[in-house]
Amino acid sequence: MIVTTVTVRVPAKVNLQLSVGPVRDDGYHDLVNVFHAVSLFDEVTASPADALSVTVEGPAGVPTGPDNLAARAATLLAEHIGRRPDVALHIRKDIPVAGGMAGGSADAAAALLACDVLWGARLDRETLLELGARLGSDVPFALLGGTAVGLGRGERLTPVEVMGEFHWVFGYADGGLSTPAVYAECDRLRAAGEQDSVWPRVSDDLMAALKTGDAEALGRALYNDLQPAALSLRPSLGEALAAGRDAGAVGFLVSGSGPTCAFLAASLDHSAELAAALNESGRFAAVRPAVGPVPGVTLL
Ligand code: C5P
Repeated sequence: MIVTTVTVRVPAKVNLQLSVGPVRDDGYHDLVNVFHAVSLFDEVTASPADALSVTVEGPAGVPTGPDNLAARAATLLAEHIGRRPDVALHIRKDIPVAGGMAGGSADAAAALLACDVLWGARLDRETLLELGARLGSDVPFALLGGTAVGLGRGERLTPVEVMGEFHWVFGYADGGLSTPAVYAECDRLRAAGEQDSVWPRVSDDLMAALKTGDAEALGRALYNDLQPAALSLRPSLGEALAAGRDAGAVGFLVSGSGPTCAFLAASLDHSAELAAALNESGRFAAVRPAVGPVPGVTLL
C-alpha cells in the first residue's frame, strides 16, 4: 500500500511539578518534572512533496522556515534513515504559541511519527524517543503522553499511573514568553537570593494525589519553580492567577515557563463554572477547558 498523506494528533502538556535544579555545564537545568498531557491538540499532516515545506493554520508567530521544530524533526528523521526530507507539513495549531504548554515540541513529536509512517520507516519507540530528545527536552513526553516523571533535562521519562481523569481550565495570554528567558530569570532570582535553590525530588503528596484521583489533593500539590520568574517577567500573571483562585479553582499555577495559566477544577461541572468565571474576569485572551491525562501522539 502506498501511503499518500498521514495526519497525527498531539496533545499539549502542563507540568504538575516543575522543580528546577542547578544549571549544568551544558547550560540546561536538571529537572524533576511531572508532565501531564491534556486535551488541547495540534494536528500535523505530512504529504509527499518535491521539497520540505511547512504551512501553519491558526495563531500567528509560528516560524515556517527550517527553524520550525516540525521541519527539524522531518530533517532529523530523514538523515537517520538516509533519505531526502521531501515532505509538506501542514500544522493545525490549537496549542498556544510560546505559551508554556510545549506546542512546538508537540509539533516536532507529531512530525516524527507522521514522517515515520509516510516514509514507511517504522522505527521502534525507543529510537523515536531518542530522536525526539535531540530536538528538545519536551519532545519525548509529547510522543508518550499520559502522565510521566521526567528527569535530566526532562527527557528521561517514567510513566505514572493516574486514577480517572482531572478537569482543567487553561487561561491563554496575549503574547508568549521565551523559555530560555524564563530559565535565565529563574537563575537571576536565585543568584540575587530571592528564590531558594534545593536539589529537587518528586513530591510524595503529588504522587499520592495522582494515584487516588483526588483533585483537591492534586490542587494543593501543584508546584512550579519557574512561576516566580514568569511572574517577574509578566507581572500581570499575578492577577490572572488570582482570578482563578477567586473563582474557586482547587489549584492553580503557571504552566511550564508560561504565560498560560492552569486552573484545576473539582469536577466536569465545576470546570464549566470555572471557565465561565474566568471568561467573565477579562484577564485572558482565551479560556479553554480540557481533561488530562490523554495519550501522546496518535495517528488519525
Ligand atoms: O530543550 P529545549 O530546546 O526545549 O529547551 C529550551 C530552552 O529551555 C533551553 O535552551 C534552555 O534555556 C531551557 N532549558 C533549561 N533546562 C532544561 C530544559 C530547558 O535550561 N532542563
